[in-house]
Amino acid sequence: MKILITGANGQLGLTLQDVFAGNDLVLTDKETLDITDAKAVDNFVDVAKPNVIINAAAYTAVDQAEIDKELAKKINLNGAKNLAAAAKKTGAIFFQVSTDFVFDGKKSKPYVESDEPNPLSYYGQSKLDGEKAVAAVGGKYFILRTAWLYSPFGKNFVKTIAKLGREKEELKIVSDQIGCPTYAYDLALAMKQLIDLVPSNQVIEQPVSTGTSQGGSSNDSIFGLYHFAGTGECSWFEFAQEIVKLSDGKAKVIPQTSYEYAASRGETIIAERPKYSPLNCDKIEKLGIKTIPWQESLAKCIEILKQNKEL
Ligand SMILES: NC(=O)c1ccc[n+]([C@@H]2O[C@H](COP(=O)([O-])OP(=O)(O)OC[C@H]3O[C@@H](n4cnc5c(N)ncnc54)[C@H](OP(=O)(O)O)[C@@H]3O)[C@@H](O)[C@H]2O)c1
Repeated sequence: MKILITGANGQLGLTLQDVFAGNDLVLTDKETLDITDAKAVDNFVDVAKPNVIINAAAYTAVDQAEIDKELAKKINLNGAKNLAAAAKKTGAIFFQVSTDFVFDGKKSKPYVESDEPNPLSYYGQSKLDGEKAVAAVGGKYFILRTAWLYSPFGKNFVKTIAKLGREKEELKIVSDQIGCPTYAYDLALAMKQLIDLVPSNQVIEQPVSTGTSQGGSSNDSIFGLYHFAGTGECSWFEFAQEIVKLSDGKAKVIPQTSYEYAASRGETIIAERPKYSPLNCDKIEKLGIKTIPWQESLAKCIEILKQNKEL
């Protein structure tokens, strides 16, 4: 299977390279395929003719997005739309990754796909706009909302806390935001399982670029919007406690509020985050795709970091 991965050097992109190894992978980054360039995306997909396109490219700097709204919009909205259009035109299956930050966190039960989004931050808004654009284009798309992503690759909370937990005596971590830590490897595997569930007559054999849609409608199919995250929920503080414990750190983890955290850095809160954003994953689990308890996947990730001598 030929799979085009955008943002291939980001943490999800690198994880996807691992999980889809053995396939014909077309790996692109900002330099080789800038997803904000509609013409370049259209041409690239036309020539490469992938069966599947996974958009792992995004503007992910949540605070910076409040300042650099134009760029966040270009990448998270226009980029997603360009790829969805190219996928629809060629009949490729398309994956767009979205976020729990589309919700305002005012619920007290995990969010389901039909809950009304109400992003608190511009990052969340730009990701929601990207979702809407992909759905409006149509075709054979999956939008997967995920949360609190970590992996052995790139920079993320797990790697930072595991390192600091070994170096420092004390770590103050935000305890008033609850979510679902998600191992990027589990998300990539879920994508693989979803591809396997697509009926073979909807996976293009020899894509052609006639400009007409070959995309199956999402009405009577498995395509559409899903939540996928680690099972269970915790605060960043509880997440950090588990990271320090599993990575044999010595630091005492101390809870603090988001306001205390910002004040300790001499800042005011730049981007508001949802206080409660766990994702209910029943819809994807009904397809037979299992979510994994977050502690179990975290242990696997820490083990890999130890094996790689990164800890
Ligand atoms: N990280 C999380 O906690 C989290 C939570 C929920 C959802 N998500 C979603 O999960 C997805 C993957 O996130 P991640 O953590 O893997 O992000 P990441 O590590 O920041 O990777 C994003 C990649 O996109 C690339 N990129 C940026 N602009 C581009 C452009 N115009 N064209 C092509 N590539 C471009 C970046 O390259 P440069 O580094 O060179 O800019 C980077 O390699 C995103 O859709 C994100 O919104 C993430």
